[in-house]
Amino acid sequence: MKTSAIFTAFAALAGLVIAAPAADTSPVAIPARAVEESPPPLSYQQVVPIVDAEEAAIAKREIEARQGVFITVHVNWSGGNAYISPINRGACADLVSSWKNVITSFGPDPGLVCWIYDGDWCTGYSYGPIYNPGFADLSSIGMNDRINSFICW
Ligand SMILES: *[C@@H]1O[C@H](CO)[C@@H](O)[C@H](O)[C@H]1NC(C)=O
Repeated sequence: MKTSAIFTAFAALAGLVIAAPAADTSPVAIPARAVEESPPPLSYQQVVPIVDAEEAAIAKREIEARQGVFITVHVNWSGGNAYISPINRGACADLVSSWKNVITSFGPDPGLVCWIYDGDWCTGYSYGPIYNPGFADLSSIGMNDRINSFICW
């Protein structure tokens, strides 16, 4: 059973309530992802549907633990960037100060739905829902260099 790996992943994301992108020059991977590597793809004939509810729930959590939000400081996914993952669904992610008021591209992975806020801790003006691929230029919705926090499910 992969339960321990999942617990590790979720314990790790509990520490990410303050999602912590740091520098703005090099790609920064933020996650403590204790998720196993993906197995090689299976042919259709080999796929065994998951019927056990607990197993299905575990599989769903493993998929969710791989999802994240890609952010950059310049338009069209350029400039300093970070990938915030895993996402603690339903918990506000308050950005560290170096990432407040600088984000220009905001891209949730497929399967996530997000709201962005111009105040700390998901307060103030908000915009959502945002689905993949997100916004290459947040000025189109009046949110360029204005995100201070966000929340996703
Ligand atoms: C961003 O991409 C769009 C669409 O391709 C393009 O029209 C626009 O000029 C680009 N902006 C910059 C600043 O590169």
